[in-house]
Amino acid sequence: VSWPTFTPQCRKDVDRVLRSGRLTAYKANGKRLEPETWSQAYALEREMEKAFKVKHAVACSSGTAALHASLGAALAKRRAGATEVITSPYTFSATASAILLAGLEPRFADVDPHTFCITKETVKPHVTKKTAAILHVNLFGYFPDLSGLVSLGLPVIEDSCQAVGASRGGSYAGTVGVAGTYSFNGSKNIPAGEGGCLVTNSDKVAEKARLLVNHGENFGSTQVGLNYRMHEVVACIARHGLKSLEERNQRRRDLAYACFEALTGVGFWDTQITTWTMAGPNVYYVAPFKVLKNRSRFISRCAKRGLPIQASYTTPLHHLKAFRKYTARELPVVDELHKKTLCLLTTLTPDRSLSYARKAAGIIRESLEEKKRMPGLYEPWY
Ligand SMILES: Cc1ncc(COP(=O)(O)O)c(C=O)c1O
Repeated sequence: VSWPTFTPQCRKDVDRVLRSGRLTAYKANGKRLEPETWSQAYALEREMEKAFKVKHAVACSSGTAALHASLGAALAKRRAGATEVITSPYTFSATASAILLAGLEPRFADVDPHTFCITKETVKPHVTKKTAAILHVNLFGYFPDLSGLVSLGLPVIEDSCQAVGASRGGSYAGTVGVAGTYSFNGSKNIPAGEGGCLVTNSDKVAEKARLLVNHGENFGSTQVGLNYRMHEVVACIARHGLKSLEERNQRRRDLAYACFEALTGVGFWDTQITTWTMAGPNVYYVAPFKVLKNRSRFISRCAKRGLPIQASYTTPLHHLKAFRKYTARELPVVDELHKKTLCLLTTLTPDRSLSYARKAAGIIRESLEEKKRMPGLYEPWY
């Protein structure tokens, strides 16, 4: 088993791109800010727009680049003194790094214990005159209802790097706010090694983003930009990833359902999270669950039986030296998830069989119910 996998047609098309010798989609010092119309990057952008029902897609070199460009483009014009962006501390560092690199400051809000995302209620206490925007993170593949956040009246940008293809009521993750971002790195739902994309329904934000992504200043604009352009081989792989995205996302859902269904009612199982996990619009970049006590012992029991379980996600950003000073308040929910309860099943990738998912559930069940040698862990669920 090895993820990601690439089809023979993808390999052929990558070879064709290599043989063409045209590995960049952009003309040096050309007038055009978009990829050339013959390019893979151009085709990917149009295909993303169609797939996610959004007006503009801008191919980027990474999800981080897309985040940096989206903040720069969406917040270019903002109230004087509005310098802060409220975001989640339970995210990859790139979310907060991009805020700082855009000349703004992150403010960390606590998360909801069931969606692991910031909400209207957790964000509200942090809103001040200095707030420029909210950078919401669709974590682990889950796309929550964002209407509460949107109702706060601030620009909402979506870090959807982990939720590519998740949809709710006909809208795709990343397309609800003023701009959204996707990552195509590593084992993401469209895995192309590296790469990313920015999406927006605003002509102005798209235009500004293109300046930021492709050396805007070369073309007579006052806007400075960087090289955040997508490589043609990456675009070719990402196009294939997009083609099979829905099928692969469905596979991730089927695997998570098979595993979680087999665990319904198990001792110490947090049934609330199970129910949420199965009901929500989710593309299961990873499958989260909670164990209420003795997490490290539970994880070592799973490991002994051959199932790797990750304790928590990355260290919450408000505990990292680079970001510590941007936290004004206690964040008890995220701290509890991180220190005590949250577990991640990261191996339910689309190349796995349903029997693997059921076997994983069996190991989780055994590890939770091994009561004799783990006094205090087991509590009857009936
Ligand atoms: C939530 C989140 N934001 C941003 C990124 C950055 O994406 P990339 O690695 O493509 O730069 C990632 C990727 O790991 C992520 O998970």
